[in-house]
Amino acid sequence: MSVQGGAIEDLRATVGLQIDDEQLLRKLAGGLNAVEELLRETVRSDVKAVNDAASHLVEAGGKRFRPMFTLLSAQFGEKENEDHVIIAAAAVELVHLATLYHDDVMDEATMRRGAESVNARWDNTIAILTGDFLFAHSSRLVADLGTDAARIIAETFGELVTGQMRETVGPSDGEDPVEHYLTVIAQKTGSLIATAGRFGGMMSGAPDDYIDSLRRFGDIIGTAFQISDDILDIASESDELGKAQGTDLREGVRTLPMLYALADPATDLRLVELLAGPISDDAQVTEALDLLRASAGLDRARATLSDYAQRARAELASLPASPARDACESVADYLVARTH
Ligand code: IPE
Ligand code: IPE
Ligand code: MG
Ligand code: MG
Repeated sequence: MSVQGGAIEDLRATVGLQIDDEQLLRKLAGGLNAVEELLRETVRSDVKAVNDAASHLVEAGGKRFRPMFTLLSAQFGEKENEDHVIIAAAAVELVHLATLYHDDVMDEATMRRGAESVNARWDNTIAILTGDFLFAHSSRLVADLGTDAARIIAETFGELVTGQMRETVGPSDGEDPVEHYLTVIAQKTGSLIATAGRFGGMMSGAPDDYIDSLRRFGDIIGTAFQISDDILDIASESDELGKAQGTDLREGVRTLPMLYALADPATDLRLVELLAGPISDDAQVTEALDLLRASAGLDRARATLSDYAQRARAELASLPASPARDACESVADYLVARTH
């Protein structure tokens, strides 16, 4: 049965991807609704303070990119264990969400998902404890998926935190800063997106080589995702981001466009001076943003993003041609397109 154009657009809006196959769109939208319900149920607490802080960012929205990727990856298996797919998708989103609560403390961020960040709305202690609460409940959900899944999510979390630690400490003496950056983002962002894909494959009983391809695609697309996020921190306005623009500059986190600008002898010396450390003055943040937007570093970062998107697409070649594989490919296209 075919649906009207408007209804298809509604499904696309729920799913957030350019997918033409109506059956797949329906499946994904249905899965996402189930994930949403499970997320809301999971963060509920009888203790009002926990309930308020834990539901704050769930209610604020977000792209739900990781659960969507788990649902898409589950299309490559034959076994319809929908309950496990939904639990895995919700658990991955909860790990992501918990890391956002902690990340906003570390980055002293004031906005998240278009709302006040939890550290700004309440305080750091509440943000840290609520992040822990979300981790705890993610682990509880994964316990129902078996010991392999429990081991994988624990290893993933360890890797993600190691990436955040590496970013905090910075490159060691003699370490190439771009190599350092790429390792950091693969660990802090690629690892969880890789697990989102791996879980989808596992929970749907996909063959091992498909699960491996989904994991590798997730790893590379996740790294690309972070590069695009770092480009947008410079190139987009806050109301589009739902986060404060220039947060990386304020925190002194040197992202790829900045590293490329610093490596370019033609870069304006004023920009080099501004990038020497964290910037607290608003006017100087604006000045640095303007100089970065005009620098060759931003375009070079876009080119690196395109390379990653291309490599990610190549990983899909070992998966069977299907609307789900086309949708994975459209994720790669979207990440590049959103930075232009
Ligand atoms: C933000 O992730 C943190 C990064 C790894 C870049 P998302 O961009 O997926 O954030 P939400 O979930 O949509 O808010
Ligand atoms: C967030 O990295 C990555 C994790 C939460 C692991 P960022 O600090 O770059 O993300 P945003 O820009 O705050 O979303
Ligand atoms: Mg951060
Ligand atoms: Mg941050």
